[in-house]
Amino acid sequence: MPSFNDRTIKKVIPLSLLVFFIILVNFIIIYRYTEPYEEPELATPPADEEPEIPPYNAPQYGLEFVRPKERKFVSPVLEKYIKSLELKMKDKDLYILLQNCLPNTLDTTVEWFNEDKSDPRTFLITGDIPAMWIRDSANQIAPYLRFINEDEKLRDLVFGVIQVQASYLHYDPYANAFMRPWYAPKKEGRKASNTDNVIPAYNPEFVWESKYELDSIGHFLQLTNDYIDTTGDIERVVTSEDWLRAIPRIFTVLEDQMQSTWPAPKFSLKASTKKINDPEPVSLARGYRFRRYTDRPTETLGEYGLGGITKKCGLIRSAFRPSDDATTFPYLIPSNAQLSVQLIKLSKHIQVFLESKNETRSEFNMQQDIHFSSKELGETIRKAIYEHAVVKHAVFGEVFAFEVDCFGSQLLMDDANTPSLLSLPVLGFLEKNDTIYRNTRDMILSEWNPWYFKGKFAKGIGGPHTGQDMVWPMSLLMQIQTSTNESEVRQLVDVLKRMAKKTGNLMCESFDVNKPTVFTRSWFSWANGLAGTTILQIIQDYPHLA
Ligand SMILES: *[C@@H]1O[C@H](CO)[C@@H](O)[C@H](O)[C@H]1NC(C)=O
Ligand SMILES: *[C@@H]1O[C@H](CO)[C@@H](O)[C@H](O)[C@H]1NC(C)=O
Ligand SMILES: *[C@@H]1O[C@H](CO)[C@@H](O)[C@H](O)[C@H]1NC(C)=O
Repeated sequence: MPSFNDRTIKKVIPLSLLVFFIILVNFIIIYRYTEPYEEPELATPPADEEPEIPPYNAPQYGLEFVRPKERKFVSPVLEKYIKSLELKMKDKDLYILLQNCLPNTLDTTVEWFNEDKSDPRTFLITGDIPAMWIRDSANQIAPYLRFINEDEKLRDLVFGVIQVQASYLHYDPYANAFMRPWYAPKKEGRKASNTDNVIPAYNPEFVWESKYELDSIGHFLQLTNDYIDTTGDIERVVTSEDWLRAIPRIFTVLEDQMQSTWPAPKFSLKASTKKINDPEPVSLARGYRFRRYTDRPTETLGEYGLGGITKKCGLIRSAFRPSDDATTFPYLIPSNAQLSVQLIKLSKHIQVFLESKNETRSEFNMQQDIHFSSKELGETIRKAIYEHAVVKHAVFGEVFAFEVDCFGSQLLMDDANTPSLLSLPVLGFLEKNDTIYRNTRDMILSEWNPWYFKGKFAKGIGGPHTGQDMVWPMSLLMQIQTSTNESEVRQLVDVLKRMAKKTGNLMCESFDVNKPTVFTRSWFSWANGLAGTTILQIIQDYPHLA
């Protein structure tokens, strides 16, 4: 084995030194003449800036402009606003849908408008049915609230709806749909069928149908509150003669419908033969009963017209749902939630009014009563909902029931019409991110809801009113309004556009999840208004999608 001798070492050392020297020089050169290495700038901006959202090219289906040339009411402010969106909106189909839907109530349903500024009156029909529903008319006119501070005539049109609703509810606070007001100039129209046997009896020239629906009252108060919120004009509402006459009658109904069913007031089984011909308000002394000769159980009430039996618990009965179908258990939770929110709001509005007026003055005794009763009742209902309508579901955890009776029975489902469980955040009852609401939403948008349908074309919520496989655009719109998931919103907008292509470029009442050319009610102003406001919300919340 060779060993290193001195000669080898003497050769290696200078050589190593030379190599080391060359490497050192290289390092110095590289360091001197190249830029020092730095961390590259990260593409993500600081957290407080909006992230860059890639543009979204929505699929286009060639929707058509279908606004009528002859329009019942024109608001220049609304027209200008719609026009201003023409260049802003990239999704041309969505823009056409907005143009067709948003003005639909003004274009087609204003049947009578008394322009007298001191007493404006507005009669709105629902669309294809020539009567005014309290619920529909509140929803039909609501999309225009955002324009009324710039358009005085439009403001009177909205206030006119409140006035007419108030006169109707003063006349019969149990009824849901009314004829042309008795004080409007006469016009030949379709007559109400009126073979219903109802307590309280009413004049069929005034009332289209007397299905007691709690949300009629809720919607009347909602429109009232929204009008006050928008205009700040509390006085115009809470000193209106019709409004002040309607409210005590409404409270009588609410108190009556809070009591246990038993013992029920006595009544005669014979149909009432007494003909009621005058506009004297109907008597509320014998409670409410409704019977109709029909082969559809959802169109009449059992137990001699009383409907489902309830036990007093702080909730308020609703004989029928916002779909006009009979309730299974009368404490309909979405309608109670809506009413609770609106009563508390009203109480606050009146408090502001009284504070501005020196509340010790006796001329405002009535407003003071309304202030206290609204607050108390609103809070009672809210508490009762949490006590009696929160159910532990095996799959979803704590959820809200749709209807209860306070004997312990609870119905789990949702129906497309609002108030619905789906719409609870829009009604202002809770936040979109509320845990019980999230669980409830997951449940009702799944096959655990008996009225949720899935097909080749779409999926969504319908209801007993239109039956199997029929989904309501209104519920899809509410799903958009309550969504926190952009991809869900995108899919729903796509379905609505494809549906509108098949159903006349507007919203309809319901369509078949497999075959959208099968649909109901092509002229349904409430759904059109809801589409209009939903599109405006999309423009605001997801501008890159519009
Ligand atoms: C409020 O009205 C009462 C009774 O009319 C009166 O005595 C009182 O001075 C008024 N207060 C204010 C602040 O105007
Ligand atoms: C829900 O959202 C509200 C604001 O919209 C927020 O204040 C609250 O903290 C949120 N709650 C939860 C549980 O995320
Ligand atoms: C958002 O919606 C899409 C489409 O409906 C769904 O696939 C996805 O799971 C949703 N995401 C969340 C976090 O819920």
